[in-house]
Amino acid sequence: MKLILGIESSCDETGVALYHIERGLLAHALHTQIALHSEYGGVVPELASRDHIRRALPLIREVAQQANCNLQDIDAIAYTQGPGLSGALLVGASIGCALAYALDIPAIGIHHLEGHLLSPLLSTPAPKFPFVALLVSGGHTQLMRVDCVGQYTLLGETLDDAAGEAFDKSAKLLGLDYPGGAILSALAKGGIPGRFKLPRPMLHSGDLDFSFSGLKTAVLTLVRQHELNGQRIDEQTRADIALATQEAIVDVLVTKALAALKLTNLKQLVVAGGVGANQQLRAQLNEAAGKRGLRVFYPDLEFCTDNGAMIAFAGALRMQQQEGKQDYHFNVKPRWDLQEMNTAI
Ligand code: KG4
Ligand code: ZN
Repeated sequence: MKLILGIESSCDETGVALYHIERGLLAHALHTQIALHSEYGGVVPELASRDHIRRALPLIREVAQQANCNLQDIDAIAYTQGPGLSGALLVGASIGCALAYALDIPAIGIHHLEGHLLSPLLSTPAPKFPFVALLVSGGHTQLMRVDCVGQYTLLGETLDDAAGEAFDKSAKLLGLDYPGGAILSALAKGGIPGRFKLPRPMLHSGDLDFSFSGLKTAVLTLVRQHELNGQRIDEQTRADIALATQEAIVDVLVTKALAALKLTNLKQLVVAGGVGANQQLRAQLNEAAGKRGLRVFYPDLEFCTDNGAMIAFAGALRMQQQEGKQDYHFNVKPRWDLQEMNTAI
């Protein structure tokens, strides 16, 4: 069991990769649907599913070509089984299982968040178990204690919006395109520090939970205050609000991540998920960690957001622990608690 094909199709990115247990990541390819959904201001599930159908097979051929191998060389197929959009997940699951059936090899369903939180292990230097993972994506904000592959303990999570969602919704209020996280962050670079201060929800709640839904109301109030006579707010004010939004989200994430390390007495933090690409988050975490003798690990930037490499890699690690199924019956799990993936000890 050496060469694993990974297929990611949980949301608006079709990602495919080939991971070799001894040689590492051989090839990966991604098609993002951002342009497809941007005119609607968010992901349209039916359009997402149809586009995954169009893209998956050409991407699989592309990675096979990049890795200079044939489909017959693949030993197992890992696909994202959940959580995510059900129609989109079904595309990856059905293609993965059909191809596995045709090639007479095992197929394995992977938890999308397990893919994200193991993705920093693809980079060097890699963290060593155990570590704390801060999972910050468009759909999730969680702090997890990770003891090994298949041992996850939830330490805290968002009670409402995810951090990425808070970025995206605030960006939309500022008139930015979807998904707004990276665009808001770019706009924030021109912001004047200290002009606005937005609330840091649950900063001192004493636990490791988050709440971001109030932030968009605070952003909306600021935007309304600065819309003069129905005109759009001026560029500088937009940049200042973007900066204040980013500062509020990042402050909460950094404070809670440090609290999780203190509580668990662990020294390594892994940051995964799309918001992990945020440069201010990285800078603040690195600075805080440096002062406290802690280490922070990130996936390579291209593997922060959804991708096939993390699914192929998680599949490779899982296949070393368990048998892949070869009955090719499949289902998908649009909602799925990561702790259900825990293997018995
Ligand atoms: O992990 P991901 O690709 O998809 C999910 O599984 O949700 O995360 C996407 C999220 C979006 O909300 C996007 O706005 C956010 O990650 N994001 C960022 C940045 N790049 C992506 N948020 C803040 N700063 C960034 N540079
Ligand atoms: Zn994701």
